[in-house]
Amino acid sequence: MMMKLQNMHVQIVKDQAAGGKAGFQIFQQALTAGAKVLGLATGSTPISIYQQLVASDLDFSQLTSVNLDEYVGLGPDHPQSYRYFMQQYLFNAKPFAHSYVPDGLNADAAAETKRYDDLIAANPIDLQLLGLGRNGHVGFNEPGTDEHSTTHKVALTQSTIDANARFFDNEDEVPRYAYSMGIGSILQAKEILIVAYGEAKAAAVAAMLQGPVTPDVPASFLQTHPNVHVILDEAAASQLK
Ligand code: F6R
Repeated sequence: MMMKLQNMHVQIVKDQAAGGKAGFQIFQQALTAGAKVLGLATGSTPISIYQQLVASDLDFSQLTSVNLDEYVGLGPDHPQSYRYFMQQYLFNAKPFAHSYVPDGLNADAAAETKRYDDLIAANPIDLQLLGLGRNGHVGFNEPGTDEHSTTHKVALTQSTIDANARFFDNEDEVPRYAYSMGIGSILQAKEILIVAYGEAKAAAVAAMLQGPVTPDVPASFLQTHPNVHVILDEAAASQLK
């Protein structure tokens, strides 16, 4: 099912596998239209799209990718780093000419966030893929983040630290900070695809699409962007009016 809410093209699909196919088509159209820079995300949501990209005959060897975020303190070889995730789910099978992820090992936050903003300015993003947090976050832009924010260092909330603890040998190893593109950086992308699955995301989806534009729901700023695609499964769409 397709519908239009605000400026956003909303597509409701059966499940995550169907969402992978629908998302793949949006990537394919962007590439056909000449996209050169793809903005990418980690987490469980994009995996079915990456599976479709990997299985396809699309060639990324002349393209650039720019990822949203990375944990401070984790390097590319750490299995919980977002760089490692991207290698595993996409880049090993489909290498890009350049793949940028914030450098979690750069302890100089001012230098790293400036480097990343310069990099985004030099490589304007044609299509940005986003997942949606249960609290309406995009990237690591938690509720309260300014709509003009650029790349910044974020202190993770205790609930995120607790949720991540299961992936580490002990709690001390769980990152306390991340580098994330800001809302302003994300809104500069020419086209945006945000994807959400499952009941747990339903309230955030309704707030993003039908609630007021507010820093309380960072994803609601997408209502101000002229070219947003939304892919949802039925559970994630269940609180839309
Ligand atoms: C990932 C990211 C996060 C996730 C969001 C949803 O790079 O920036 O904002 O997109 O937390 O996570 P999943 O997809 O695991 O539900």
